[in-house]
Amino acid sequence: MADSARRPPRLYVALDTSSVGQAADLARPLAELVDGFKVGLEFFVAQGPSGLRQISMLGKPIFLDLKLHDIPNTVSGAVTSAVSRGPAYLTVHASGGVAMMRAAVAAAKAEAAKLGSPRPKILAVTVLTSLDANDLVLQSIAAEPAAQAVKLAALAKSAGVDGVVCSPKEIAAIKHTLGPELELVVPGIRPAWAAARDQKRFMTPAEAATAGADVLVIGRPITEADNPLEAAKRIKAEIEAR
Ligand code: C5P
Repeated sequence: MADSARRPPRLYVALDTSSVGQAADLARPLAELVDGFKVGLEFFVAQGPSGLRQISMLGKPIFLDLKLHDIPNTVSGAVTSAVSRGPAYLTVHASGGVAMMRAAVAAAKAEAAKLGSPRPKILAVTVLTSLDANDLVLQSIAAEPAAQAVKLAALAKSAGVDGVVCSPKEIAAIKHTLGPELELVVPGIRPAWAAARDQKRFMTPAEAATAGADVLVIGRPITEADNPLEAAKRIKAEIEAR
C-alpha cells in the first residue's frame, strides 16, 4: 500500500501509575478520542485484574504490557491467565526465544477458542530503548541495537507473533527487511512541543506515522500535559495531517 494511502496509526495512551483512581481519572476524558490504553507492570502489580476491569469499563481496547520472559511453559500459563482479562495486546520479550514466543501465541489462540472470546494479539518487545550498544556488548551481543532489533523482529515473525514493539528509529529497517505483515507498535514518541524527558531516540508523531508505525504509544506528553485532552487532540491532528 502506498504510504499516502496508509491509514494513520492508532493512538494508545500509556497509563503509567500504580493508582487505579489516577489511571481512571486520566483515561475517562480521553476515552472518546484515543484508540486504547496501555497499562504495564506498575499498574498491574498494584491493582491486578480488578484494576484492569475498571479501565476496561471505559470501553476502549487495553494493551497489557507485562513483557513476559520465562520458560515456554510458564509464559504459556501466564498468557492463558491473561486471555480472560480481555486485553487487545499482550507483550512478551523476543529475547525469550522462538519456542517461548510460539508458546505464547498458541496459548492465546487455545484459551480464546475455549472461552469463545477474541484473542489478544501477541507483541514481541525487541531491544529495550534503555539499552545501548555497550549494554549489548556486556551481554556478548556484538550487533548495534538497531540491527539486533531487526534480528529479534525476524525471530518474532518466524514464531508467528502479530507484531513487535520497536523504537521509531527502527520502523524503516524492520518494514524493509520483514515486509508489512508485522504490526509495529511504537513508544518513544515526542511531539515537537513536548519535553523529551528520558526518551533519547524519539520521533515526533508525524515522523513515526510517515515511517510506517501502526500504533503509537504515548504517555507523558499527554498524561502530564496541563490539558491531556487538548494534548491528545493535537497529536491526533498531527498524525492525521501528515
Ligand atoms: O511517557 P512516555 O511517552 O515516554 O511513555 C512511553 C511508554 O512506552 C511507557 O509506558 C514506557 O514504559 C513504554 N516503553 C518505552 N520504550 C520501550 C518500550 C516501552 O518507552 N522500548
